Amino acid sequence: MKALVLSGGKGTRLRPFTYSMAKQLVPVANKPVLIHCLENIRDIGVREVGVVVGDHAEEIGSVVGDGSGLGLRITYIRQAEPLGLAHCVSVAADFLGDDDFVMYLGDNVFAEGIEASAATFAARRPDAQVTVVKVPDARQYGVAEVDRDGVVRALVEKPREPRSDLAVTGVYFFTPAIHEAVRSIRPSARGELEITDALQFLVERGRTVIAQEHTGFWKDTGSIDELLECNRVLLERLSGDIRGTVDGESTVRGTVVIEPGAVVTRSHLVGPLVIGAGSHVGDSRIGPGTALGRDCVVQDADIEESIVLEGAHVTGVPRLRGSIIGRWTDVRAAGRTEANHLIIGDHTRAWVAA
Ligand code: DAU
Repeated sequence: MKALVLSGGKGTRLRPFTYSMAKQLVPVANKPVLIHCLENIRDIGVREVGVVVGDHAEEIGSVVGDGSGLGLRITYIRQAEPLGLAHCVSVAADFLGDDDFVMYLGDNVFAEGIEASAATFAARRPDAQVTVVKVPDARQYGVAEVDRDGVVRALVEKPREPRSDLAVTGVYFFTPAIHEAVRSIRPSARGELEITDALQFLVERGRTVIAQEHTGFWKDTGSIDELLECNRVLLERLSGDIRGTVDGESTVRGTVVIEPGAVVTRSHLVGPLVIGAGSHVGDSRIGPGTALGRDCVVQDADIEESIVLEGAHVTGVPRLRGSIIGRWTDVRAAGRTEANHLIIGDHTRAWVAA
């Protein structure tokens, strides 16, 4: 079995971050989403992984490398334009050959891994398998109609009126039967070759497509709120590990990870949280659900439920909540008598205290 990880696409809903980085590299719990995906693939015993990349190919290559650090062998497959998930299968056809494969969308978070889906595929070996999750509103997903035995009767991409509450998640298991299907379908109304249509093609030709219901945490990190939620959930699953320095005037509660070289002085830490390597936190409170990247400086600040990326400085800010602070940014208090002073990039959003 091989794996195909999709790490191209545009990520417009994660602007401004996706102007300068691939959406799959935005960190949750201090690790790019893509690395969480690759770890889950390794954990089901797959070693040979094709990673589909688009405009951010170089940056993804520099973070993931040849995969040896993760115990994987990675082949990069260039997709010139994001023409759809089924298009990714066709550009990867040579890499995939006649092998079964798991296709994993590089922006999806499965907090407990994908072992149950892999086991079902191995046991039942259908022609294809989707992993589904019950959601209150399935309109923004592929939607599956499934019978009592878990056999898929129909699949529709982002229907206006979903006929079930089962959203198709970003983990699919395929046999080589999928190749004929992706060659046979036409682009959808949004101009993409949809994997949902390829699966529907298999269903209509009497092939067996089954749905495995995933009961653990799953989210696609398509929006800022989803990203923050994933960050919180993955932080909750960490075990505490203090490898940096915390002085005697600081307090630590809950699950706290402090990476090597980080220094915390006169501060209160309430986990779950992580402080990245080489960061400095002084006279501050870092609250639950916060991930500080590497080489950040936080001074006289109070941060909770937020992601602070590599190299950011946050100084004198009293209550930062639900925030994502980009790489090498500088956020500081203006002083009571001064006006607010903002230098922010395209599609940035800022809420200042009234
Ligand atoms: O997350 C689950 C949903 O993912 C499913 O419910 C839908 O059926 C499926 O079509 C897909 O929908 P999205 O509209 O959310 O897909 P998105 O465009 O966000 O792409 C998913 C991942 O695949 C993302 O990491 C970018 C990558 N991608 C996407 C396209 C269209 C590529 O690498 N190449 C592409 O051409």
